[in-house]
Amino acid sequence: MATTHYRTHTCGALRAADVGAEVSLTGWVSKVRDKGFIIWIDLRDRYGVTQLVANESDTSADLLQQLRDLGREYVVQVKGKVISRESANDNIPTGQVEVQVSSVAVLNEAKLPPFTIEEETDGGDEQRMEYRFLDLRRPNLQRNLIFRSRLALEARAWLGAQSFVEVETPFLIKSTPEGARDFAVPSRMHPGEFYALPQSPQTFKQLLMVSGYDRYFQIVKCFRDEDLRADRQPEFTQIDCEMSFVSQEDILNTFEGLTRHLFKTVLGKDIGAIPRMTYDEAMSSYGIDKPDLRFEMKIKDLTSLAQGKGFKVFDSVETIVGIAVKGAAGYSRKQLDKLTKWVQREQIGAKGLVYVKCNEDGSFKSSVDSFFAAEDFQAWQAELNAEAGDLLLVMAGEREKTLKQLGLLRLHVGELENLIDPMDFKPLWVVDFPLLEWDEDSNRFHAMHHPFTSPKKADIEKMESNDLKVLSSLRADAYDLVINGSEIGGGSIRIHDRDLQSRNFKLLGFTPEEAEAQFGFLLSAFEFGAPPHGGIAFGFDRLCAVMSGQSSIRDFIAFPKNNQGRDVMIKTPSAVDAEQLAEWGLDVVTQEES
Ligand code: AMO
Repeated sequence: MATTHYRTHTCGALRAADVGAEVSLTGWVSKVRDKGFIIWIDLRDRYGVTQLVANESDTSADLLQQLRDLGREYVVQVKGKVISRESANDNIPTGQVEVQVSSVAVLNEAKLPPFTIEEETDGGDEQRMEYRFLDLRRPNLQRNLIFRSRLALEARAWLGAQSFVEVETPFLIKSTPEGARDFAVPSRMHPGEFYALPQSPQTFKQLLMVSGYDRYFQIVKCFRDEDLRADRQPEFTQIDCEMSFVSQEDILNTFEGLTRHLFKTVLGKDIGAIPRMTYDEAMSSYGIDKPDLRFEMKIKDLTSLAQGKGFKVFDSVETIVGIAVKGAAGYSRKQLDKLTKWVQREQIGAKGLVYVKCNEDGSFKSSVDSFFAAEDFQAWQAELNAEAGDLLLVMAGEREKTLKQLGLLRLHVGELENLIDPMDFKPLWVVDFPLLEWDEDSNRFHAMHHPFTSPKKADIEKMESNDLKVLSSLRADAYDLVINGSEIGGGSIRIHDRDLQSRNFKLLGFTPEEAEAQFGFLLSAFEFGAPPHGGIAFGFDRLCAVMSGQSSIRDFIAFPKNNQGRDVMIKTPSAVDAEQLAEWGLDVVTQEES
């Protein structure tokens, strides 16, 4: 860091080799320790903390008083000499030295912050959000945002080197559907009309392929009005990419390259080749389309082994599935009851849970002892690759639902058993997603990825079928990048043929008129030389969080919304005055309603 008008060094720069130098530092007063005869002050900036020291014996009374008057978070400029510390602090890079203060200038005073600006703060969630600028001064959040910046710079550099062109696409658009609701922006020039904010730049990046840009990327904000969770924000960032003249294989290889590059350069980790798994296998072995592969505990089907033995509950269901928990045969009654209650919670919705303890002596203890013989349990144990000392957890019911429930239990037990290391990275590609997803509420199919996703070649002819089973079985050239149980990216090969796109819209319940009104521009573009193309978008906030071993994306976004979708610092969303509503042509609506 070059010297500026204010400082010769940052608060993270000084080392033993600087002893004897006269320096000038700037920063925030982090801590003052006043022992009377000696004062120590921790001065903090983005780069680190440097200890300042003033001794009664060699400091003027005036200067000592000035230092005593400094409040927490005051912004100061300090001049002094670098000296060796009597007792070094090996926990920080500047811990060998301290600066003997010769003068201090207060650049700005500070009110007492409402919470401590430290790694472990005493501030509550809401308060930290209200004073986000202070929260962001904490070292951990600074590390997160600097990490994010590095990741973005590395991604940009890598994509640039692979001939990707960065193109900005508009925010004031018409709906680009990705399965959420749109945010709308009223138009002043066209009262009563609205723009939609993009849920993604999907249609624009496809148009750029028609325009011949061949390889596009953009690190871009997307807007989705959907329920918030730890890994969802209403505005979030994608590394959005599209390529022409590619197959699914080309895309997976290219973005495996980007992913490996990011892990290598930013974390120094070689994650190796990224394995692949079909959607069907993910669902049947893990009960989820984003399996966490940091631990095994695969789901196995026990239906044929467990039916026909006189246990009515099992005999009347479609599927019986189980997992084996290593070394957990010693679980107490209380622990097992707790697990049962856990699966019966509304969010999981299971009726019950059957357990089998594979005791060390080869015997079994189970909640269904009276219906099954030891040989039956032996067969289950073998199917689940379990050993003496393990615990089998078994669930029964409708296949898809039960797999999902057991998948969630698997994750829960993985956590309970401490099998999940946040800094162990297990990425995988999930491929061969279904083209369509049945929506119970609207009683029709939705696109599982989005309406521009290409069905697999072999399945195109089945698109005209009226059989719901056949339609549900259609597969798409669609894939997700999953890391540690989090969906980090998703993409597909696109339809580039007008006729096929129209057929797909029809399948999704659009009339030709509706398709034309909403996506006429894209259908038209397909008539002007659209190349085969496909792409992917990485959820950038999620990538930052997962690569840092964390699950909440909020701490990787400078100014996020709270879990009600509000920014409590700038206090938005908020009402607007009548005059502004009138400008948008919205006054009529509100008057009529009131
Ligand atoms: P998709 O909808 O799968 O695909 O989104 C891509 C990735 O974006 C992230 N993501 C989110 N992150 C934070 N908050 C949200 N609300 C949120 N929603 C999604 C996820 C997800 O994997 N246009 C396609 C991409 C393509 O086909 O090329 C798209 O947006 O990590």
